[in-house]
Amino acid sequence: MPSQSLRLGIAGLGTVGVGVLRILRKQAVLLEKRTGSTLTISAVSARDRSKDRGVSLSDCGWEDDPVALAKREDVDVFVELMGGADGAAKAAVEAALNAGKDVVTANKAMLALHGQALAERAEAAGRVLRYEAAVAGGIPVIKALTEGLAGNEITRVLGVMNGTCNYILTRMEETGQGYNALFDECARLGYLEADPTLDVGGIDAAHKLAILSSIAFGTQVDFDGIEIEGIERVTLDDIRHAADMGYRIKLLGVAQQTGRGLEQRMMPCLVPAASPLGVLQGGTNMVVLEGDAVEQIVLRGPGAGEGPTASAVLGDICDIARSIRLPVFGQPASGLKQSKPARAILPAPYYLRMALVDKPGALAKIASVLGEAGVSIDRMRQYGHADETAPVLIVTHKCTREALDAALSAMSGTGVLASDPVVLRIEAV
Ligand code: NAP
Ligand code: HSE
Repeated sequence: MPSQSLRLGIAGLGTVGVGVLRILRKQAVLLEKRTGSTLTISAVSARDRSKDRGVSLSDCGWEDDPVALAKREDVDVFVELMGGADGAAKAAVEAALNAGKDVVTANKAMLALHGQALAERAEAAGRVLRYEAAVAGGIPVIKALTEGLAGNEITRVLGVMNGTCNYILTRMEETGQGYNALFDECARLGYLEADPTLDVGGIDAAHKLAILSSIAFGTQVDFDGIEIEGIERVTLDDIRHAADMGYRIKLLGVAQQTGRGLEQRMMPCLVPAASPLGVLQGGTNMVVLEGDAVEQIVLRGPGAGEGPTASAVLGDICDIARSIRLPVFGQPASGLKQSKPARAILPAPYYLRMALVDKPGALAKIASVLGEAGVSIDRMRQYGHADETAPVLIVTHKCTREALDAALSAMSGTGVLASDPVVLRIEAV
């Protein structure tokens, strides 16, 4: 059968864009065999035409304006790899859909904030909008949820979905280095968002969770409904103390339907050090999907960087070349329900790190306040200290966040806390 041609327009030639170009060139023959199509690049776009990107651009056209690229007659699939929730990325994706092009993007921020409107637009135009690279880098989790697990009622989605945070947390433990040095390493590896506060603030990972929740629970993407806390407040002390108690700190996302609504949270949690999540190193991501029939599957792989992210983009391009066409969030966007956000209600054990004024009865006051709020202590440790404040760690038995909050509020009136306690939920997976 003669080979067809699928003509691409690629906007964004940074870490991911250059990775896509490299695979398209290196694997041209393999890709043609697999898809039955010759994948060609009609034109590309970036901000700075003169920048040396380490790849030749001599065989493709250039557009300064990504919107113009999106509308070109010789583009069948517009590939958006610029980033940013709004601005050029959104304008160009909308222009591409309006012009009857299929779209592939890696842009989780845009999908988390505008996914519903873009999905409706794509479906009204009869086009596909694919975004495998937007969640968990090289892990084909969108495909797993929309296709492989289509026969399941999904009960829970959880995981580590930001390579930068996992890299920083694991390298802090290994090397004792602080944020700044580790940021530089993440930049070298191509992990960071253009605005790295999205990474360490938990926002990038929450964008990804919002997308997964929509597919898993048939709801409209609801980024605003996510309870978010980043890793900025996690200190080397917390990492060392958690390790001492048998745990590791991970930026963990959890989404599940509860009787009261959709619970979505992205925050640093403790996980057992020897558990699959606990041993996750560097930029690796892990997504756990639970369904009524399959029970549990665990997907693990590189969550960021040139090769893994470009691999996911190529998977989407190949699906389009093979005429695999699915609704954006696994079912028609018009049928997605609005979700009702709910806070976590299931009891869990908690880790508390406190600095107590070192005077008689201080610890007794803390124990008594916890007891009065119905929070039972599982383990406790006090460390030697040279100054006036005593570092104390407490691991509670399972309790509700409500009971713990009551205890924390009573604690602040005891006069024995030298600073606000650090509170981290312990998640068993
Ligand atoms: P990046 O290295 O910062 O590259 C962004 C590219 O977009 C650059 O080539 C830039 O041009 C171009 N660009 C930005 N604004 C533009 C505009 N207004 N018009 C034309 N071109 C513009 O970013 P990246 O890491 O490749 O990420 C791209 C997308 O993939 C983002 O949505 C990101 O969230 C997502 N993603 C990244 C990773 C990762 O590991 N890096 C993983 C998953 C998803 P210049 O080069 O000329 O400045
Ligand atoms: N900045 C993101 C991360 C890139 O560190 O995981 C992958 O989405």
